[in-house]
Amino acid sequence: MKQILTDPNQKSVFVQDKFTSVTKRYDLLNSLLSCYIDHYWRKEAAKELADGHAGPILDLCAGTLPLSLELLNQNRKPVAAVDFCYEMLAYGARERLNKKNQGAKLQIFPVCGDGLRLPLRDESVQGVTIAFGIRNLSNVSQGLGEMHRVLKPGGKVVILEFSRPSNPVLGPLYKFYLHRILPLVGGLISKDMEAYKYLAQSIEAFYSPKELLSLMHEAGFLNPACRSLTLEIVTIYTGTKAG
Ligand SMILES: C[S@@+](CC[C@H](N)C(=O)[O-])C[C@H]1O[C@@H](n2cnc3c(N)ncnc32)[C@H](O)[C@@H]1O
Repeated sequence: MKQILTDPNQKSVFVQDKFTSVTKRYDLLNSLLSCYIDHYWRKEAAKELADGHAGPILDLCAGTLPLSLELLNQNRKPVAAVDFCYEMLAYGARERLNKKNQGAKLQIFPVCGDGLRLPLRDESVQGVTIAFGIRNLSNVSQGLGEMHRVLKPGGKVVILEFSRPSNPVLGPLYKFYLHRILPLVGGLISKDMEAYKYLAQSIEAFYSPKELLSLMHEAGFLNPACRSLTLEIVTIYTGTKAG
């Protein structure tokens, strides 16, 4: 697993394969394993774009489209929902962009594509969101560079990602949950324990907020900032492109 996480080619194939494998149980497990707090986290992330100018939004690593739909609920539209896992996007489109939700069907555009080579023109979107996706990119700096490239001047990026509680009591308890409980429950329900072991290890191995802010700065974002939610279990990062 360690080698998979550090070799970009292997990581990319592995990630695609794992998300394909857990697609049908992904939403259920997300909510279950976070005690339904994940909905609140995405709401908070989408709110970060509330004060921006109107215009298209890129929801990168959109998966089954939960954040794309939340953006639409908050009147941020249209949304280009890009993910390189066809099964995740197709499942999300079937479940979330169906006859019961015609409005969403007209405003959310799923696109199968790679975040490291975005199929979008320079300066074509007003905002970029990425929820629980940046940790999965095989080259974070390249991904940030692509987000910066497609943003219009003055546009904003919003990154929602897991972090690690620094509290000396909570930290070890969270580690225990990540490595012992999460793979067990995730494995039982999805039938792919490796996918949930990867989730735990990728959270553990990911950049600290300070490091990610520094990478955002290097990618050209102005005023990179972050705020943590729910005892630092997740962090929302924001930055803007020079106007
Ligand atoms: C944990 S899911 C997040 C889905 C959704 N944003 C959410 O909030 O639940 C991560 C997603 O990132 C996608 N992904 C990982 N690397 C990618 C890349 N290089 N390009 C596009 N999508 C990628 C995976 O296919 C997966 O659907």
